[in-house]
Amino acid sequence: MDAETSCRYALDFTDKELKVPSVTTQPVTAQLTHAAIFLVVTLNTEPADREAVRGLCSDMPALLRGIGFRHPDRRLSCVVGIGSAAWDRLFGSPRPAELHPFREIEGVHRAVATPGDLLFHIRATHMDLCFELAAQIMSRLGAAVAGADEVHGFKYFDERDLLGFVDGTENPVDQAALDAAIIGDEDPAFAGGSYVIVQKYLHDLKAWNAVPVEQQERIVGRKKLSDVELDDEAKPAYAHNVLTSIEENGEALEIVRDNMPFGDAAKGEFGTYFIGYARSPARIERMLNNMFVGLPPGNYDRLLDFSKAVTGTLFFVPSASFLASL
Ligand code: HEM
Repeated sequence: MDAETSCRYALDFTDKELKVPSVTTQPVTAQLTHAAIFLVVTLNTEPADREAVRGLCSDMPALLRGIGFRHPDRRLSCVVGIGSAAWDRLFGSPRPAELHPFREIEGVHRAVATPGDLLFHIRATHMDLCFELAAQIMSRLGAAVAGADEVHGFKYFDERDLLGFVDGTENPVDQAALDAAIIGDEDPAFAGGSYVIVQKYLHDLKAWNAVPVEQQERIVGRKKLSDVELDDEAKPAYAHNVLTSIEENGEALEIVRDNMPFGDAAKGEFGTYFIGYARSPARIERMLNNMFVGLPPGNYDRLLDFSKAVTGTLFFVPSASFLASL
């Protein structure tokens, strides 16, 4: 049985090129699933709260086994992220080299920073498993938690977002995903870890649906029905896939995304929960800057005329080996 079907923390990380000795990563690059819960909580400050969280972190594999063992085919997994201020309270030093609070961006549109000490990114093929794990996590945290934002994400038809476009096509896979998302020898004490940024976007679907499909395709940079990428000449400089394709020294800087639609039909709420993992937060921040400020400034991402970011938080994802050692 492989690491994922046994519902353990994840992939064995023994990549020689990255010069990381055997460290087990969290399932950052887990196969995309049909259901997810994004749970962001803030913590209280008593010493007992700190112990409750550390205890939960080290017991995560047992919790996952307890729920997931009964349905190994449903691929339950959970990634735990720790916010910048929470890191100091929970673990002190050393600190991951690039961990800092999410930096708000005030451009043509605004990327807000919102509170969050812990992220639980729970995935499974069925929502019942996600919900059970979220409930057990919250019951373990109990009074240690001050506030929570919980979003239930679902897959919408053939991997589409609620804007109607297929979302995730150009995500790196296999070794390329590990190279994009997992820290190597640039921060040896935290090798096998990752950084993650989450943002909850709400769409103005009425306004979006009034935009002709050809213009929507120019905004995204791909065909809506077929998901075929537009030719370079047909893509405007503000296309989403132009602004988020970044390079350094001629090499593409990639991230691993697992966006999920969510919504509340009765409230008229239609959203995309953006989640991006990377071995350095700087590459996600560069993409965000291109989207919100524009490249050059003013040439911003038109998706944002129809999508408002209402949350924004950055977390460090320690290796599973680190969590198990607590
Ligand atoms: C409203 C929120 C968002 C929506 C609806 C959205 C949707 C999409 C869609 C439909 C694609 C094309 C298919 C694909 O390759 O996945 C795409 C590509 C991409 N998006 Fe987003 N996205 C959102 C936010 C973001 C954010 C905040 C970032 C990064 C900070 C980002 C980074 C990327 C990247 C890197 C690609 C691949 C570009 C390429 O290599 O072609 N997206 N997104």
